[in-house]
Amino acid sequence: MSGDARKTAAGLSYLTGFGNEHASEAVPGALPEGRNSPQRAPLGLYAEQLSGAAFTEPRAHNRRSWLYRIRPSAAHPAFTRTGNGAIRTAPFAEAVPDPNRLRWNPLPEPPAGTDFLAGLWTLGGNGDATQRTGMAVHLYHANASMERVFSDADGELLIVPERGGLLLHTEFGRLHVEPAHVALIPRGVRFRVELMDESARGYVCENYGAPFRLPDLGPIGANGLANARDFRAPVAAYEEVAGPVEVVNKFCGNLWTATYDHSPLDVVAWHGNHVPYVYDLRRFNVIGSISYDHPDPSVFTVLTSPSDTPGLAGVDFVVFAPRWLVGEDTFRPPYFHRNVMSEYMGLIEGAYDAKAEGFVPGGGSLHNMMSAHGPDRETFDRASAAELKPQKIDDGLAFMFETRWPVTLAPHAAAADHLQQRYDDVWRGLEPHFRA
Ligand SMILES: [Fe+2]
Repeated sequence: MSGDARKTAAGLSYLTGFGNEHASEAVPGALPEGRNSPQRAPLGLYAEQLSGAAFTEPRAHNRRSWLYRIRPSAAHPAFTRTGNGAIRTAPFAEAVPDPNRLRWNPLPEPPAGTDFLAGLWTLGGNGDATQRTGMAVHLYHANASMERVFSDADGELLIVPERGGLLLHTEFGRLHVEPAHVALIPRGVRFRVELMDESARGYVCENYGAPFRLPDLGPIGANGLANARDFRAPVAAYEEVAGPVEVVNKFCGNLWTATYDHSPLDVVAWHGNHVPYVYDLRRFNVIGSISYDHPDPSVFTVLTSPSDTPGLAGVDFVVFAPRWLVGEDTFRPPYFHRNVMSEYMGLIEGAYDAKAEGFVPGGGSLHNMMSAHGPDRETFDRASAAELKPQKIDDGLAFMFETRWPVTLAPHAAAADHLQQRYDDVWRGLEPHFRA
């Protein structure tokens, strides 16, 4: 049995004012009025707080939600260790950090019956999950829906589907996420992934650090980039399941499992701001140059996880969305550069304007701290000679996880068959044209 009294067409409600208080109830009257933890919560529910920030963090950064549930989360048996599959966690100390530019093809087909959790494959990462710093890059390739429920104590999960829709059944309700959408599961929130198609493939940024938030806009003004009103939270929906449910908990890098006698997705009402959400990348308001030069890609930041140094993100999520290029006397593709930040790039659909070939949907590239990269020779030649009419870039959707620390690979990523062996050749043939 399940309840979903406030169904909307999309099963979603706007998370107005990103990070602000939001509320939903699956049964009218389930949400207490005027207090968080009344002597008796409505409808015989248990009241429980889920804290995503320390109690005392500044109000602007504080994240917590109150959940009104059929059973309290505390009602569960002991967890025992289970295999980690292809999931790895920071600190990444097994391999030596690699200064080379690296590029991968998509993950191979998984065996039949691979669910989202079993299909998670860690590329690498940085920081230390136990210190709540840094991030990990994962990919997933699944062909079965999850029967079990998962939660990640180590960080929040930004899911970037590339192929196949997902229905995320979370404690807060259901989120439908398609390629070109992203979904965020906050730290500690239980969920399971139902596939909407035969298989599903994509990327995950596991952020151990401060929760993703919208970047400040500075002189851009009050609007632009990702607009707060386009982040949508689920409507409360609960499962009342009698019978065993496996719950897997990722804790300090290891997976632990317990068999519950009920589903932990039994929240009937909730309010707060530690909430899962979905965002359609096609709603990103792209800001760019209308005079000359290519702006730094920070102008494409969707979400940022700030560090204790202003402007220096633990990780930024950046999207290269369809946009017009109009710069005069300008080399329009991304310029050659070396960056103190480290860049993992993936492709959701189409092509990317800095690479002629080899960077394919479902694949990815890693340009670590100070590694030199930029357009390949073919792109350089074309863009250097192009007639600079206004041009629409509308055949691709690429993204970047840009992080302040180098990404160290999980050993299986360094040895993967789908690691391209001759990526450096992309920059062969860039001849000198200098004439004194
Ligand atoms: Fe770059």
